[in-house]
Amino acid sequence: MRIGILLSGRGSNFKAIKAAIDNGEIKNAEIAAVISNKSDAAGLAYAKECGLKTVYLNHKDFDGREAYDREIVKHLSESGVDLVCLAGFMRIISPYFVEQYRNRIINIHPSLLPAFPGLDAQKQALDYGVKFAGCTVHFVDEKMDSGAIILQKCVPVKDDDTEETLSARILEEEHRAYPEAVRLIAEGRLKTEGRHVKIL
Ligand code: GAR
Repeated sequence: MRIGILLSGRGSNFKAIKAAIDNGEIKNAEIAAVISNKSDAAGLAYAKECGLKTVYLNHKDFDGREAYDREIVKHLSESGVDLVCLAGFMRIISPYFVEQYRNRIINIHPSLLPAFPGLDAQKQALDYGVKFAGCTVHFVDEKMDSGAIILQKCVPVKDDDTEETLSARILEEEHRAYPEAVRLIAEGRLKTEGRHVKIL
């Protein structure tokens, strides 16, 4: 399975997936390309250091969201990508992109969806006063943070949590959940029926 990673920043989820491939936890998979919309993304620099194929695409060079996404899809398909992992990719993707890779794009979001979609999910959870937070790995469809859920992991929210401490606790679980979801896909162990994803 050839994986395409899309990221905008730090890239710690990308690193977690790469580490799971390198240590044999995820078999029969390789990272075929890492694409970023930010030239200074730390994740992109790390991918370069690792000798992976990297692509930087500035949205300002394109006339609209779909034109931008067509270029991404072109790079993904040239790299023979089977599975697209959005790993902190802070852009909404177009219906065109979703259609080209239907059921083959996954995302990680730092909340227990459908609670707290969109930006600053951890802050939204704190402000709301929930007692448990977490992360969700899900398939990507046309709507934001709405596709069928593959995995979720839960963490407690403590009385003295700040956005930073809660985000760090959630991130630890993200680094478990994302490689696990990729492994299940690589092993052909997910069966999707509408919104329901069964692990075989
Ligand atoms: C992660 O917490 C991820 O869940 C979040 O961005 C962070 C990226 O960190 N994604 C979203 O909020 C998407 N809506 P990373 O670059 O270290 O993987």
